[in-house]
Amino acid sequence: MWLKPWVAGLGLALAAAIVVLNFAAASLGADLPWLMVLDLVANLAVLGVMIVVIVQAALQAEARETRARTAIEESHGRLAAVMDSAMDAIIAVDQDQRIVLFNQAAEATFRCGREQALGSRLDRFLPARFRAAHGAHIERFAATGVTSRRMGDAPTLWALRADGVEFPIEASISQASEGGKPLYTVILRDVTRRKEYEDMLVRQQAELREISARVLEAREDEKTLLARELHDELGQQLTALKIDLAWLRERLPAGDAALVAKAVHMTGLVDQTMTAVRRISADLRPLMLDDLGLQDAVAWLVSEFSKHSGVDCRLDAPHESALENVDRVVAITVYRVLQESLTNISRHAGAKHAWVILGASGNWLQLEIEDDGQGISDADLARPRSLGLKGIRERVLYLGGSVEVGRAPRGGTRVLVRVPRLPSQGTPA
Ligand SMILES: Nc1ncnc2c1ncn2[C@@H]1O[C@H](COP(=O)(O)OP(=O)(O)OP(=O)(O)O)[C@@H](O)[C@H]1O
Ligand SMILES: [Mg+2]
Repeated sequence: MWLKPWVAGLGLALAAAIVVLNFAAASLGADLPWLMVLDLVANLAVLGVMIVVIVQAALQAEARETRARTAIEESHGRLAAVMDSAMDAIIAVDQDQRIVLFNQAAEATFRCGREQALGSRLDRFLPARFRAAHGAHIERFAATGVTSRRMGDAPTLWALRADGVEFPIEASISQASEGGKPLYTVILRDVTRRKEYEDMLVRQQAELREISARVLEAREDEKTLLARELHDELGQQLTALKIDLAWLRERLPAGDAALVAKAVHMTGLVDQTMTAVRRISADLRPLMLDDLGLQDAVAWLVSEFSKHSGVDCRLDAPHESALENVDRVVAITVYRVLQESLTNISRHAGAKHAWVILGASGNWLQLEIEDDGQGISDADLARPRSLGLKGIRERVLYLGGSVEVGRAPRGGTRVLVRVPRLPSQGTPA
């Protein structure tokens, strides 16, 4: 606290006056007794004032100290209240990893009273197998100089309650220094429930994927059955009908042009029906996939698509030998993905050109279908009632592959699928 200038000036003037008076009294006091008396009174007055000032200053200093102490205590109280009202467990440790702060949530989370926790080492709350690594983590964290970060590289961190039960946590750590010594604060949350839900979700997703794979399998089986019936039964009967028609035509009475025309028309109809049966059965089940292999089946699909859709579609496929040893399920998946993508192009794209690139490298097959149509939007992808692309995704993910659907570099739509040649998973179809 600084003295005001006029107070300091007055004090100096008074001190000077007292000094002068003391000198005067010392030299003239013998002749002038009243001067001695005046000097004594003045000295006593100054002494009194000084005592009053010192006492007052001491009282003020003490009051200030009390106020500061109260403020610190209040601040500590507030901090403790905030710590204890926090939902998350907060634990602070010193440089030796000894616990110096343990809030109420930490007591509940670790089922351990504050008195037992304070002063003990933090790693008592870690499962034994993580203790060695934990110390090294803290040291590395200290060395980074980063003030705070999420703890742990593993997807799940584990902690240990005082009763010996392990539980999953999510934690962050921060560092500060107190009186020149490092102080680490760990804020953590028990995520047992969330982990249970996550595990349940993962399990259910796997189950749903399995169910969807079984449904696809059943559909493929039904299609196969239908395709075989169509191809073998109906196809053979139509062939027989055609032979019979030819036989009849040869025996028609000569000169009856109307009868001959009718027979020719009927033969034409039988031909068209046979073509339709072949097409429908091929759509239902790529029999040629079994008979000719993936490359020819893909080539057939592309050429049929070009013929019927009016879209000029180019195929770039590797040599047949590159597509050997492709699992049957993978071949069916590639075929179905191509079938759905080409159908989508003719139904939605308004494209003039399309490109199909089938590639094989190592254990992976890659199928890329691109068009120069209007392109696909996020809203298109999210249509709840559209199942084609979702079906592709399901089939491919089940085999351990990946799917990308989005804008093509040329502006249209691009479907890019990668599947392992020999999937390690189960078989969907
Ligand atoms: N090549 C494409 N070009 C433009 N839009 C496309 C293309 N492919 C798909 N889409 C859009 O994405 C949507 C979803 O396609 P998806 O194949 O999932 O369903 P769908 O063809 O509408 O119905 P389905 O369930 O019969 O296949 C389509 O409705 C369409 O709007
Ligand atoms: Mg579709």
